[in-house]
Amino acid sequence: MKNLAAIVLAAGKGTRMKSSLPKVLHPVAGRPMLFYGLSVLKELRIKKTVVIIGYGAMSVKEAFASEKAVFVLQKEQLGTGHAVACGLKALKGFSGDVLIVSGDVPLITKDTLKALKQVKDRERDTPLALITTVLSNPSGYGRVIRDRDRKVVRIVEDKDAKAGERAVHEVNTGIYLITSDFLSRNIKKISSSNAQREYYLPDLIELASSAGHRVAALTHIEPEEVMGVNNRLELAKASAVMRKRVMDSLMLQGVTIVAPENTYIDWGVKIGADTTIHPSATLSGDTEIGGNCVIEEGVKITDSTIGRGTTVKSLSVIESCKVGSNVVIGPFARLRPGSVISGDVRIGNFVEVKKTTIGKGTKANHLSYLGDAVIGEHVNIGAGTITCNYDGMKKSRTTIEDGAFIGSDTQLVAPVTIGKDAYVGSGTTVTSDVPPGSLMITRAKERVIEGWVRKKGIKK
Ligand code: UD1
Ligand code: MG
Repeated sequence: MKNLAAIVLAAGKGTRMKSSLPKVLHPVAGRPMLFYGLSVLKELRIKKTVVIIGYGAMSVKEAFASEKAVFVLQKEQLGTGHAVACGLKALKGFSGDVLIVSGDVPLITKDTLKALKQVKDRERDTPLALITTVLSNPSGYGRVIRDRDRKVVRIVEDKDAKAGERAVHEVNTGIYLITSDFLSRNIKKISSSNAQREYYLPDLIELASSAGHRVAALTHIEPEEVMGVNNRLELAKASAVMRKRVMDSLMLQGVTIVAPENTYIDWGVKIGADTTIHPSATLSGDTEIGGNCVIEEGVKITDSTIGRGTTVKSLSVIESCKVGSNVVIGPFARLRPGSVISGDVRIGNFVEVKKTTIGKGTKANHLSYLGDAVIGEHVNIGAGTITCNYDGMKKSRTTIEDGAFIGSDTQLVAPVTIGKDAYVGSGTTVTSDVPPGSLMITRAKERVIEGWVRKKGIKK
């Protein structure tokens, strides 16, 4: 949209969240609440965005360090009107419309903001347009007061409202489009003589209407889209709506989600067509899952990529890993950060893999710990294999070359290398390198003592 600047209000503590984390950093479907407002503004290609920060300013700024926005500090949170006054200093010289949104309205869409612009443009000479909605329970919100001709005349905050005003169900959503000239001339006129001793931005509406301007309103927007997140109940609701949007879109792209109401997929997760996601899977962060995969019940995947045709069986956990194509993982497997699993690998039940690279076709099917290891192709890791990577002071690496066979219940005391095609016998504790093609075995020779039980006098 042309000739448009934006101010995002994000300085409040969010007292009702009862949290030390600034409200706008609380995650909604995996991203900080403020992320969504800023994304929509980017989609609209707004030239200059000013973000008002205050409570937890440094952490908010840090969380959005890569954004092009200008951050302005509101030292004391004296109200939304005061916050905008602070922001206007960063918009000196700008002439056009200023879009004002709250950082706590994460579900707002580009289309609604475009519609707000149209409503303002249609109402010629209006300096101000706002978005309203009708709520069955409007408590906590500013009410929209209209005159007999249904013209918007002012907003009254919940705490200042008289009984009759409180009964109004049309509420202010805190999203406005205001002509810069009107804004800078009138922002100073707002007073703080109200129940909260704050400078209320919505007082601009009365300033406009009493000066004879018609205030434009975009009404009846889906309450869900413009809900403000002020407490943890609303936070959970906003997350659920956002996740539903994500899943609806994935399903329309060809992903089967068996029980969407019971599945947790965060914003930004990508999934290829013909992949099936079973109930209570939790997929988050920068995760990308290829097509034709099966993600079974209760799987948790964070910040990972999964190749095509891979199956992740029930209750497996994968965090910051790269997994190739046609791999089978789990059930009950754990892939910890920094692991890279090539194609056609099998990682079975109760196998933990940490910072380990595994080559194509290798199998570790049962009960193993593989940490700080580089494992080649077509290796067989027997049940109960442990890489002893930590000596109490430092971590060391285990290398297992292509085609090696590690017998069950083996300890590989790192640093150690098992050569190409070498064998390690079951129950061996390996403390030195095994040359390629050889067998290492540390097992004590077994003995049979016949009649031992009888000789001991053990009665059966
Ligand atoms: C505000 C509106 C109310 C509207 C509601 C919609 C005011 C006075 N009231 O109420 O009419 O119905 O939003 O959700 O505006 N902020 C600052 N600096 C401040 C105070 C607030 O940056 O000094 C920021 C907050 O971080 C928040 C936003 O402004 O992102 C709105 O503040 P909040 O306290 O949530 O206002 P509401 O009581 O929800
Ligand atoms: Mg609010």
